[in-house]
Amino acid sequence: MAALPEPTAEQKSHSQQLYQTVIEAIDDCTAIGFDQYMAMALYQPGLGYYAAGSQKFGAAGDFITSPEVSPLFAQSLARQLQQVLVTLTDAIVIEFGAGSGLLASDLLLELEALDCLPEAYWIIEVSAELQQRQQQLLQQKCPHLAGKLRWLQQLPEQPVNAVVIANEVLDAMPVRVFEKQNGELFECKIEHSASKLNWVNTAADASLQAAVAEIEDTTGQLLPDNYRSEYNPSVKPWLNSIHTMLGQGLVLLIDYGYDGRQYYSAERDMGTLMCYYQHRAHDNVFFYPGLQDITAFVDFTGVAEAAFEIGFDVMGYTTQAQFLLGCGLPEIFENKMSALSDQQISQQMQLSQQVKTLTLPGEMGERFKVMALGKGLQPGLRGFSLADFRTRL
Ligand SMILES: C[S@@+](CC[C@H](N)C(=O)[O-])C[C@H]1O[C@@H](n2cnc3c(N)ncnc32)[C@H](O)[C@@H]1O
Repeated sequence: MAALPEPTAEQKSHSQQLYQTVIEAIDDCTAIGFDQYMAMALYQPGLGYYAAGSQKFGAAGDFITSPEVSPLFAQSLARQLQQVLVTLTDAIVIEFGAGSGLLASDLLLELEALDCLPEAYWIIEVSAELQQRQQQLLQQKCPHLAGKLRWLQQLPEQPVNAVVIANEVLDAMPVRVFEKQNGELFECKIEHSASKLNWVNTAADASLQAAVAEIEDTTGQLLPDNYRSEYNPSVKPWLNSIHTMLGQGLVLLIDYGYDGRQYYSAERDMGTLMCYYQHRAHDNVFFYPGLQDITAFVDFTGVAEAAFEIGFDVMGYTTQAQFLLGCGLPEIFENKMSALSDQQISQQMQLSQQVKTLTLPGEMGERFKVMALGKGLQPGLRGFSLADFRTRL
């Protein structure tokens, strides 16, 4: 792989501060779980990747998400929201991890155009720095809707009717890493020796043993030897808190991931951890902590299983391409194209390119999946009308 771009001296010194904090945490207990390392690398106040001031999203950042590719994403998603919002009383939209704030502003403007604005739009964002950026962007793009917006530290205690959205949030949650060697299960933790961070295998505790046994049980396949992967321990508690908070409503999870059998297939023996730095994807999780994004793919079978046990209806599972097409992307695209004059060639090409990026299999169309979890809703969500792959879960 080509060498990664060298950070500036200032960026390196920022990363060094986080590195010191990680070492102090390790010194307290000899090794920390990868989930603790990932949480620090991404969310350590003032220092973590999402908690500090780098650009992150878009061309000048490290990666691009669907809402940043095109407003067509939010405009299509708005039609799925519309179908559900009109059936709910006093409905609220709750967005987790709103990134730059672009999805929120594009969604609100489209829901306004569709004449189905929610009672309120709440954002739950763990990064204080991103909260500020979201507030600025929303103030700039839709100041007249400021009264609808609120940033919450946690979910409300009183039940509300809501549509909950999480685009690329599950992949940014800390995961535990495990390895199977000679029939024994280990947790892959992080230690500090020879002046650097290293992986170290430690005996798996009961909770990890149980989690891996559940993976083998639900996928119906035993993980082979010399096999390394990861799982997200926060999924179930997180979904549980959402279920408790919901009167009636829908949760839409959009992320890159696989069903469990694909995720934990014998060939994927190095797991799915991936790092992003200036649009380069690589697997060195120790590269300048705090300067790069660290992610893991989503095991959608695990998500569905947890949701089902909690009491959600798993209402649909499909690819991003099929979801956007089912929501009406072709008509939205046609309307936008016909509003352009014949001379506006570059705008026409830009729109076509955006549709390709969002929907082509080699781009974001198939790697990204959409899962719908419902509480007290009628079946028949439009985003899953063209293709529903729940039987693969
Ligand atoms: C990869 S970014 C995606 C941003 C945005 N949704 C988008 O699609 O452009 C992940 C976002 O999730 C936030 N995040 C991660 N875990 C979260 C949690 N448990 N609750 C709320 N936000 C979270 C991060 O701070 C960040 O804003």
